Amino acid sequence: MQRNIRLRSEIVMKMREFLIRSHGFVDIETPTLFRRTPGGAQEFVVPTRMPGKFYSLVQSPQQFKQLLMVGGFDRYFQIARCYRDEGTKSDRQPEFTQVDIEMSFTTKENIQRLIEGLLNHVWPEDMGNLPIPFPEMSYKDAMENYGVDKPDTRFGNLLQDITDLAKANEISRIFHSSQIADFAAIAIVFKNSAALISKTAEDSLLASAKMTTNKTQLAFVLIRMEDGGKWKSSLAKKLTQETMNSVGDRLGVSAGDAILLGLGPRESLVPSMGKIRLEVANHLETRGVKLRSNSNNFLWVVDFPLFLPSEELDGGPLQSAHHPFTAPHPDDEHLLRSSPLDVRGLHYDLVLNGSEIGGGSIRIHQSELQEYVLKEILQEDPTNLHHLLKALRCGAPPHGGIALGLDRLMSILCDANSIRDVIAFPKSLDGKDLMSGAPSSISQKEKEMYHIGTVNNNRS
Ligand code: AMO
Repeated sequence: MQRNIRLRSEIVMKMREFLIRSHGFVDIETPTLFRRTPGGAQEFVVPTRMPGKFYSLVQSPQQFKQLLMVGGFDRYFQIARCYRDEGTKSDRQPEFTQVDIEMSFTTKENIQRLIEGLLNHVWPEDMGNLPIPFPEMSYKDAMENYGVDKPDTRFGNLLQDITDLAKANEISRIFHSSQIADFAAIAIVFKNSAALISKTAEDSLLASAKMTTNKTQLAFVLIRMEDGGKWKSSLAKKLTQETMNSVGDRLGVSAGDAILLGLGPRESLVPSMGKIRLEVANHLETRGVKLRSNSNNFLWVVDFPLFLPSEELDGGPLQSAHHPFTAPHPDDEHLLRSSPLDVRGLHYDLVLNGSEIGGGSIRIHQSELQEYVLKEILQEDPTNLHHLLKALRCGAPPHGGIALGLDRLMSILCDANSIRDVIAFPKSLDGKDLMSGAPSSISQKEKEMYHIGTVNNNRS
């Protein structure tokens, strides 16, 4: 912890040096007690002495940094504390730190080059040189090849689509593919790994792949190719040798290899295959296989959709893929009114070794467009953002920015398994401060002061 926290301090110092001294940025602190931002993460609410009035803790300084652009601070940054009431995980804390950046009159490429320069400046010498500029991958390619929008490119074992093959043979009959909308068959080959995945490991990997989704129509099987070209799996028994050979030929399999085959509706199958790719890789690495290279693989993921379908079962309004301030891709803007789901956003994510360490975008700087997105597409009440809409009407410069997740970046630099190892006084996995016991109850008197009634006062 001593080493990690000291390295963190050094990196932050170098970041300030780079941004302020070499690039003319202004370090500006912005409030954390604010009001709800529509269309983002779940926020923590803070009671006040004003009856029925609450602050929300900021999930990021997003609105403030845009307002600062309107106010003429054309290069802003802040080491900013952010709060999100989401489940805690090894890479997620309810309060965390961003290196938050915004610039006026900029482009996606400008921001990408700035961040590459920043990381190059702070990168510890003993971790080797950074290969800049970092490569780019489209969201579509990331999903098709890796099943995830933050691909770990340190190893191959890509997703291979064999839907055409499965539809042409008895695989589709066995799995009743005609009853599944947008049926897909996707395979991943693990070379020379058949003997390294025991039956117990196979059962637990396949069970965990199934658990990644609540869709019942998914099926996963592990097929081993044994010496002499013999196939072994629960599925292989039901298939002809000819079918198995055609699958094997397409995938370029040889004796000793394992194939992980997933079947089901494409939308839920692809992310499940993305997760199982990582899980099998982790399993093989515990068995001594060196699958991942030692390099640090940075990657820009671009061309995300601007909106996603609603997660509500009864089909509510569309939601922002990132946040409601992202500008549409200029080539797709004409589709905004007619088919918003086909519009790409001017968003970019920075991925390092399969972890999303940053994200940003070029913003909407026209108030009419911002209001249209909020009101007509996201069906949010625009009065929540009246201050931002008003500022945009005052002649906002075109602007864009990014935020790096400092804790995630540090955990990779420190080779830590969790961001808790690079944070002083982190929260536990269930969001508690184990040292003091926070969150804790408050007295009846305090509740009255803040006009709070809890549902069950005895248990409060
Ligand atoms: P975004 O929500 O992508 O963008 O956040 C930016 C980066 O912050 C990190 N991060 C987290 N780290 C730890 N715990 C969390 N709960 C957590 N949530 C996010 C990630 C992520 O890439 N305002 C926009 C940025 C912008 O558009 O400029 C934003 O907050 O590494």
